[in-house]
Amino acid sequence: MVQASRAFEVRPPARPFIKWAGGKGQLIPELSRRLPQRFRHYHEPFVGGGALFFHLYNSGLLRDGVTLSDYNAELILCYEVIRDDVESLITALRWHHRNRLDPHYFLDVRSWDRRPDFNQRSKIERAARTIFLNRTCYNGLYRLNRKGQFNAPFGYYKNPLICDPENLRAVSAALRYVELRVSDFGDVLHHAEPGDLVYFDPPYVPTSPTASFTHYTGQTFGPDDQRRLATLFAMLGERGVYAMLSNSSTPLTRELYAAHAVSSSTVYASRKINCDGNKRGNVEELIVCTYPLEAEH
Ligand SMILES: C[S@@+](CC[C@H](N)C(=O)[O-])C[C@H]1O[C@@H](n2cnc3c(N)ncnc32)[C@H](O)[C@@H]1O
Repeated sequence: MVQASRAFEVRPPARPFIKWAGGKGQLIPELSRRLPQRFRHYHEPFVGGGALFFHLYNSGLLRDGVTLSDYNAELILCYEVIRDDVESLITALRWHHRNRLDPHYFLDVRSWDRRPDFNQRSKIERAARTIFLNRTCYNGLYRLNRKGQFNAPFGYYKNPLICDPENLRAVSAALRYVELRVSDFGDVLHHAEPGDLVYFDPPYVPTSPTASFTHYTGQTFGPDDQRRLATLFAMLGERGVYAMLSNSSTPLTRELYAAHAVSSSTVYASRKINCDGNKRGNVEELIVCTYPLEAEH
């Protein structure tokens, strides 16, 4: 007799393994109720910490393949290493854990990307460095200067969690069949097909001159990129691809999506990470879709 526990695969839930500016944890209920009832391949071209991906995985909604991408190569390297060699990563993180309270150690590890041999470091070393810096730097902010060098200061946390083996193993299982790419959003969707779902969560259009955070990659994401994205969103809609996008609700975003979004709503979300601590709080977010919303599910 086949036991019930064997008939269904038991999958421990997986959570984002990295804190990411603009992380969508807060917005999951709003995004979730706007998902199409059924979709095929799932694409997330600005994956960051992957809050919606993990939610879909935990809910058993990813049945037909997944492609996750981001322009940030060090971030995608973390996903790759977790998928392909999670045990070596755990060992490397345990080493960093011993030094987690030492600001000199932090500065030394942070400076690796200023040295010529950075690219010769192993994938494991680099991924462990990114996770360690993310857990110990001020605000948990991944921030690069114009030369692409990590420049967030030490966070002085009392006891930062550097290594969470249980979650990392769950993330590794979640990523087992996932295709990962380092890419501009414009180069990954040529093969998206009707019935696929794409979730776009780009760097937000600033709501004020000081409220911008677009330093994820060392390049800025400006109004031309926002326009390029809106054009792609419209093209995907015409091709029968389900596309959902979140952004700040600003005159530019409302104008860009007014003509091409089949459904559009403004919701409120609280911002956890902002470079300026005073600017945290409730913000208006725009969620647009290329398809009509079905009855709530
Ligand atoms: C708002 S964050 C995504 C947050 C994510 N949804 C989460 O839950 O953590 C935006 C992401 O876009 C990435 N990015 C910036 N410019 C990009 C580009 N031109 N193409 C693809 N990704 C880009 C950044 O590296 C960052 O991870």
